[in-house]
Amino acid sequence: MKQLTDRVAILTGASRGIGPVIANQLAEQGVHLVLVARSADKLQREAERLSTTYGIRTLPVTADLSDPSTAPGVVQSAIAEFGRVDILINNAGGGGLGPFADETPDAILDTLRLDLATPVLLTRAVLPQMQERGEGHIVHVSSIISKVDAKYVVSYAAAKAGLTHFSRSLRAELRGTGISSSAVSPGMVGGAGMAQTWMDDSGIKPPKLMGSVSANQVASAVLKAIRKDKAEVLVAPPGSKLMTLSPGFASRMFGRIGAWEMMRKLSEGPTEPRPVQSAPTENPAENPAA
Ligand SMILES: NC(=O)c1ccc[n+]([C@@H]2O[C@H](COP(=O)([O-])OP(=O)(O)OC[C@H]3O[C@@H](n4cnc5c(N)ncnc54)[C@H](OP(=O)(O)O)[C@@H]3O)[C@@H](O)[C@H]2O)c1
Repeated sequence: MKQLTDRVAILTGASRGIGPVIANQLAEQGVHLVLVARSADKLQREAERLSTTYGIRTLPVTADLSDPSTAPGVVQSAIAEFGRVDILINNAGGGGLGPFADETPDAILDTLRLDLATPVLLTRAVLPQMQERGEGHIVHVSSIISKVDAKYVVSYAAAKAGLTHFSRSLRAELRGTGISSSAVSPGMVGGAGMAQTWMDDSGIKPPKLMGSVSANQVASAVLKAIRKDKAEVLVAPPGSKLMTLSPGFASRMFGRIGAWEMMRKLSEGPTEPRPVQSAPTENPAENPAA
C-alpha cells in the first residue's frame, strides 16, 4: 500500500511504549487512527495530541485485548466512525518473565490470548470489508524472540512464533487479492516499551553485547512493511539478525552474552513471577509499569 494519506488504521497498544511512536509516524503521513488499549485517559490524551499536532481524525477505543471476544466490537467502533479500516496494526502485547513451571495457567492463557488469539480475531474481523474493497494491510508486531529457543519467556515466545507464522500463512492465502499481512519482529527496544520498563523497575542493565533498537526504528519498520509489502521486517542489531538464522545457535549465543541470565534476574524482581500485564491505573505511582 504505497499511498497512506487519508487511510484509516486501527493501532492496538496505543497508550504507551512503542505504540505512540508508531502512531506518530502514521499520523505524520496523514493516517487517521483508531487507538486501542485499556487505559481510557491515556488514550484520550494521545488522541487529542495526535489530532492537534497532525490534523488527523482519531478515535480512542478502550478494550481489554486479553479477552479475544472484544475484537469484533473494536472493529465495529472503527467502521461506525470512519466507514472502513484500511490498516490493522496488532501491536499490543506482553508476556510474563520467569521459568515456565512458575507461570500460573491463567497467566499463560492471558499471554496466548493477548499475543496470539486477539490479533488473529481482530484480523478476522477487519477482513470482510477489506475483501469487499480488494485492499488492506495487516501488520503484526511480533518479536525476535519468536526466532530463538528462548528461556524464561516461553509462553510469550510461543505466542509470538504463532503470530509470525499466522502472518506468513495468511499472506500466502491472500496473495493476489490486494490484501496483505506482515510481521515486524523487534529485538530489545531501548528508551520506551516493556523491556525499558523492566530495566527501570529492576535497575538491571542489559549485557552490552545484546544491543538494542529504538521505538522509532520499530515504527519505521511498520511503515516500511505496509508501503513495500514486506513479509517480515526484523528490527535488530546486525549480530542478532545473523544469529536468528538458527534458533538453537541464537539461543546459545544469547546465553553466552548473558541475555538469559538477565531474564532470570528480571524474573526474580519484587513482583516474582512478574504478572503478564497489571491492570492499568492512571496514577503512575500505583502502576510503575505505566
Ligand atoms: N519493548 C521491547 O523490547 C519489545 C521487543 C520485541 C517486541 N515487542 C513487542 O512490541 C509490542 C509493543 O510492546 P511495548 O514494548 O510497547 O509494550 P508496553 O510498553 O508494555 O506497552 C504495551 C501496550 O499494549 C497495551 N496492552 C497491554 N495489555 C493489554 C490488554 N490486555 N488489552 C489492551 N491493551 C493492552 C498497553 O496499554 P494498556 O496498559 O493501557 O492496556 C500498551 O499500550 C508488543 O507486541 C511487544 O510484544 C516489544
